[in-house]
Amino acid sequence: MSTETAGRLSALELLDWDHLHFYVGNAKQAAHYYATAFGFEIRAYAGPETGLADRASYLLVQNDLRFVMTSALHPESPIARHVAAHGDGVHDVALRVSDARAAFAATVAGGARAVSPPEETSDHFGSAVLATIATYGETVHTFVERDRYKGPFLPGFIAYAAGARATAAPKLNAIDHCVGNVGWNEMDLWAEYYRSAFSFTPLVSFDDSDISTEYTALRSIVMADARRKVKFPINEPAKGLKRSQIEEYLDFYGGAGVQHVAIATDDIVGAVRALRANGVEFLETPGSYYDGLESRVGHIAEATGVLRELSILVDRDDLGYMLQIFTKPLQDRPTLFFEIIQRRGSLSFGKGNFKALFVAIEEEQAKRGNL
Ligand code: FE2
Repeated sequence: MSTETAGRLSALELLDWDHLHFYVGNAKQAAHYYATAFGFEIRAYAGPETGLADRASYLLVQNDLRFVMTSALHPESPIARHVAAHGDGVHDVALRVSDARAAFAATVAGGARAVSPPEETSDHFGSAVLATIATYGETVHTFVERDRYKGPFLPGFIAYAAGARATAAPKLNAIDHCVGNVGWNEMDLWAEYYRSAFSFTPLVSFDDSDISTEYTALRSIVMADARRKVKFPINEPAKGLKRSQIEEYLDFYGGAGVQHVAIATDDIVGAVRALRANGVEFLETPGSYYDGLESRVGHIAEATGVLRELSILVDRDDLGYMLQIFTKPLQDRPTLFFEIIQRRGSLSFGKGNFKALFVAIEEEQAKRGNL
């Protein structure tokens, strides 16, 4: 191992998810939606009342999940321009580090493009250091060093006591993985980016023989850190008879961006029941998927009838099995969606489900006239 790689690994040693920062058209209403539909608590706020003249931000928290919804207050804001170009979406996949200056220096030395150099901010709760680098499309990674900060989120935010709550609590825990869609033939380039800037290694990869239906295809590789805490699958479109779901995303997002966020739970059956009760819409699985399910994936603890009722998918690898389900797009553009995942040992990303899943996605694409 080179000294540069060793230095980078030590700078990123305790890398973890910190938060996802969404740029949206109306943060107040988006916060209400994610609170009431997905069970988040609106815990902090920043805006004109706290000295931010150009934007309003709401922090949503649920267990280890932190989402921030931000919207612009003026048309000339870069946030307004981002929303006009991409629609509502994830602008920043922010990562927790023990030393933001070291993480920034190491990733920039490894080829990452600098967006904002390390900056220390503080208020009466303490101080935090933030530094930002670019990734695919207009998406960025902010390194967050917050060991010396005790406030509700980051300096500038104040506690937010009011706010809507979900009627049924889905008990979502943490981010499992966060997927980027990139342009034609760009997957290898972005995999190399995460290898050189982050010293990530490929966990698994899929080609169009794994991931294609009669009509559409994609290629995918999963890049992960040494602890396998932070996992970034990267998808690119592949040629099929009709328009790939990745192409549809790229057309509507206006380029590369975050396609889906997989959220881990310890009880997917309870979570999906609660989310459905709260009005969350999921992709429906063809009934035939459940015929002979256990003969394909082996014995599972959950009753097949319940999985069929809720459209939950199952996949197995050498280490165990996993259950997963995908929401429909979370905004009018067919771009960002969530996956709900429960791992019972397995490290799988659901390869065994790609066919069934993509048939369901294509049915939705066809309804939109984009297949
Ligand atoms: Fe996924």
